[in-house]
Amino acid sequence: MASVAHLVCFNADCRAEYAITDVLYNCTRCGGLLEAIYHGIDARDLKRTVCERRMSNDPLDASGVWRYRELFPFLDDYSLVTTLREGNTPLLDAPLAASYAGLARLTFKHQGFNPTGSFKDNGMTCGVAQARRLGMRRVACVSTGNTSASMAAYAAAAGIEALIFLPHGNISLGKLAQALEYGARTFEVEANFDQILALVRVLAERVGIYLLNSVNPFRIEGQKSIIFEMLDQRDWRAPDWIVLPGGNLGNTSAFGKALREARELGLIEKMPRLAVVQAAGAAPFYDFVANGGSFKAVEKPETLATAIRIGDPVSWPKALHEIRSSCGVVEQVTEQEIADAKAQIGRCGIGCEPASAATLAGLRKLVAKGVVRRDADVVAVLTGNVLKDPDYIYRYHTDQLKAPDGSKIGSTYGNRSVVVPNDAEAIERAL
Ligand code: F0G
Repeated sequence: MASVAHLVCFNADCRAEYAITDVLYNCTRCGGLLEAIYHGIDARDLKRTVCERRMSNDPLDASGVWRYRELFPFLDDYSLVTTLREGNTPLLDAPLAASYAGLARLTFKHQGFNPTGSFKDNGMTCGVAQARRLGMRRVACVSTGNTSASMAAYAAAAGIEALIFLPHGNISLGKLAQALEYGARTFEVEANFDQILALVRVLAERVGIYLLNSVNPFRIEGQKSIIFEMLDQRDWRAPDWIVLPGGNLGNTSAFGKALREARELGLIEKMPRLAVVQAAGAAPFYDFVANGGSFKAVEKPETLATAIRIGDPVSWPKALHEIRSSCGVVEQVTEQEIADAKAQIGRCGIGCEPASAATLAGLRKLVAKGVVRRDADVVAVLTGNVLKDPDYIYRYHTDQLKAPDGSKIGSTYGNRSVVVPNDAEAIERAL
């Protein structure tokens, strides 16, 4: 039987169904988030099929996203796919980071190896394919930098116009530079991420542009491939824990959905637990899970990990469901903890951007609290490349890094360059 795809309201009390080609980001009945669901997925030979595809030169098979296409079969025509060979990111053992966290062993799944340097490419190739299927000529997003870099690249490759809205003064230069280089029309709005998202949702309706933020369910479908590829690389042995940073919580939603579906299809034998880590200055999801009550947005989110500087994450209802389904936990970490963990990841020869380092900082706390056992099998997902934010790195190592409240961040593992004269003897002395 061929698989059938629908859009369905995520709200358990509603579950309204829509056609997969409806241009919708929220349920028209109750306003809930939407998700793609499928009937008739046959995963029996899938493990062998994806293995064989690794030897294929077909661009669809060579993509670390589309290689797993049977697990998100929303598209009926694969000639609509624009691929930059996304995914195919490595699992890296990191003994130094493991001992920093207090673990016997730790593996990083490094999404910074993607074509535009972040995990957003996994979702964007799917979002842009759907945009092409719907005949969209313009796509738009609000971003803390990585979504925009990714959307700019995929839209350019697909010949679609990209409109990008960024919080002025609060994204790293590397990410802004990418959007410009890939030819996107770029607007720096004098507001924060949450305010701009509300603005652009109004604009999308008024002027008919297709939104490629993570409210777009097809982005979430693509990000599931991060989990499928990781499991495939481990011969479908599920780890005990998967650790990731949380901002708008799209990735948490995607990871949880992927794990539930993999379990239901019999691809894995147990559910790993999700651990989501937020920066303490932008931690509404942590507060909500820790303290209960109603969900309260953080009005003025602050963190140097600008990728996750988000106070009102749109995907929190999905993320909450995934934390509950996976017996997951949510942790928060300080600016100093992020900075030091990041330097440790650098010392492994791996490196990442600040938001990604929240994983190691969070793990260290969770191990110390006894939530994660020292001998646990843990995969932490590094979401962005080390070169995304070189300014932060330079300031840390030269003892000039300051938290948003003006307090100093210690250069605990600092490594300074030394200026020397053009003189062999002087350099010998310096050595
Ligand atoms: N890590 C990095 C490097 C990110 O860029 C983001 C999100 C996250 C983690 C958090 O992921 O939002 O799915 O919980 N960046 C978005 C952007 C918001 O616009 O690039 P999330």
